Amino acid sequence: MPKVRSRQEKQIRNNGSAIDMARIPKHIAIIMDGNGRWAKKRGLPRVTGHRAGVSSLKECVRQCSDLQVEVLTVYAFSTENWGRPVSEVKYLLSLLEEVFEREVRELHENNVRVKVIGKRENLPASTLLRITEAEALTAQNTGLVLNICFNYGGRAEIVEACKALGREVKAGVLEPDGITEAMLSDHLLLKDCADPDLLIRTGGEMRVSNFLLWQIAYAEIFVLDVFWPDFRPEHLYKAIADYQGRQRRFGKV
Ligand code: FPP
Repeated sequence: MPKVRSRQEKQIRNNGSAIDMARIPKHIAIIMDGNGRWAKKRGLPRVTGHRAGVSSLKECVRQCSDLQVEVLTVYAFSTENWGRPVSEVKYLLSLLEEVFEREVRELHENNVRVKVIGKRENLPASTLLRITEAEALTAQNTGLVLNICFNYGGRAEIVEACKALGREVKAGVLEPDGITEAMLSDHLLLKDCADPDLLIRTGGEMRVSNFLLWQIAYAEIFVLDVFWPDFRPEHLYKAIADYQGRQRRFGKV
């Protein structure tokens, strides 16, 4: 992975719109959409788009590491994606396994900590094995945290947190009126990460699709009219430059 480049070089690579290295978003979340449409446009099967999307993801991880982003969270498979044709679901599961098998060593060498966020219950044993191996290998790494949301749903995540709080109430260790936002946050799957500062969605659609519903409360949203397999470093820079031009008020004036 390349070392952090000079600010001057960053400006050139970003096509002239400067990125302030002192204000890089700490946490970037991405809805990697448009794989299917990318493939369709080329007369290829949808799954070819997913495979092409892996290259975009790899480059994006490299860039985020390079820019010293602290956390990158990507949406790879939603709980709703089980409703896709069985062949596509199987492909996505085996793609995750393949990607982990092939890439985890390089991620580890680059100090990336990999975490898979989502329900584990209905994943095949072979997928679970790859996930636990990758997480264990990279657990002590101190560089970029790469959260791969897989079998993830934002509403389900909030429901699980409510159930956990409900159990604490039932056990008498918590008063219902004592429940705070911080307590609910502490029961979410991303409890160890600050909320995303920037949410990027590729593919041009203006929705959040059940992604990080709680955590994106104050995220800046950047929708890009480019399919995920066509996502390149300049798109990431564009999103960051746009983010840096916004005024974040967090509900205040
Ligand atoms: C959405 O595009 C994309 C997905 C459901 C899968 C995302 C997966 C990757 C980018 C590959 C990396 C994967 C792993 C397992 C690490 P879509 O299929 O909804 O596209 P469409 O909106 O054009 O139909």
